[in-house]
Amino acid sequence: MELKEMLLNLKIIMFGGKGGVGKTTCASSSAIWAAEHSRNTLIISTDPAHSLGDSLGMDLPPGEPTPIPGINNLTALEIDPKKNLAEYKGLTNVNPMEGMDMPGLMEGIPMMEDLQDLTSMNPPGIDEAFALLKVLEIIETEHDYDLVIFDTAPTGHTLRFLSLPETLSGWIGKLLKMRLKLGSIMGLMKSLFSSNEKEKDNSLEVLERLKNSIINAREDLTNPLKNSFVVVMIPEEMAISETGRLLNELYKFNIPVSNIIINQLYQTEEELCDFCKARRNMQHRNLLNIYKIFKENLGKILIEIPLFREEIREYDRLKEFSEYLIK
Ligand SMILES: Nc1ncnc2c1ncn2[C@@H]1O[C@H](COP(=O)(O)OP(=O)(O)OP(=O)(O)O)[C@@H](O)[C@H]1O
Ligand SMILES: [Mg+2]
Repeated sequence: MELKEMLLNLKIIMFGGKGGVGKTTCASSSAIWAAEHSRNTLIISTDPAHSLGDSLGMDLPPGEPTPIPGINNLTALEIDPKKNLAEYKGLTNVNPMEGMDMPGLMEGIPMMEDLQDLTSMNPPGIDEAFALLKVLEIIETEHDYDLVIFDTAPTGHTLRFLSLPETLSGWIGKLLKMRLKLGSIMGLMKSLFSSNEKEKDNSLEVLERLKNSIINAREDLTNPLKNSFVVVMIPEEMAISETGRLLNELYKFNIPVSNIIINQLYQTEEELCDFCKARRNMQHRNLLNIYKIFKENLGKILIEIPLFREEIREYDRLKEFSEYLIK
């Protein structure tokens, strides 16, 4: 599916790739295009080092969906990981001993080591997961956006949260077993040592909910009629290897990818200095490889974007940029 069709039909589009290649630019330019084609669009930056506001030329209050003045149908959101972590505080360090203020009391009991292990466990990628979950919550509940565009953090762990349900299952299972083993002791201890009834610990429920919303999100994200991941790259060798790894990861998680954007290309028709000629030749060599690997072998649609003289910021330039994105 061409990017244009995707912008007109899909519910979610994610832009990702190596650092500095133009993800934010492609995401905001696409978002403007979609908004101007009557799709109520929300663009979300999940990169903790946000630059979405800079790209759109305005301040975005952290964690708050903000309508973009002058563009109908466009809302932008930079998610605030700190806020999200605070919201889920206590969840990353679930303590089955909750409510038993008796330090040292259970030392020497064999189960203690397990417990220590359990309380210090942080599933990998959990903070990114919370950030994205916050976003998924927004998507699933309060909104009536037609299209949600993600400007993701540089390659790496963007989608690692998708494997979290399995990790969490193990985690929840372990926690549950521990609870059962400890149940009677805890009951006894509590009745002996604690004067007032402590609040019920609901960490298990929260974990279950977390797991289920990731499973739901996974359903949406792996459905090619709903979501597509657009890879952004530049024509350099390192970017080719990194794009290969990213595609592998996306494939592993069943995330649909049909378009790859090759950004910042020196133009052949331009008069260039020696330095720029050398760079253009380097790009050209890599471009041949990119066509062979990603188009011929993997059947991806390639979108070429020229290197502009100026940085691409704010409405007019983003608009001009979108003419290359949507041919
Ligand atoms: N085709 C282009 N021509 C000229 N400048 C460009 C082009 N594409 C992007 N830029 C500029 O390059 C810089 C980096 O772009 P952008 O912020 O979109 O990259 P990114 O991949 O989101 O970076 P990060 O990994 O830091 O989030 C920006 O200043 C942007 O304006
Ligand atoms: Mg960016």
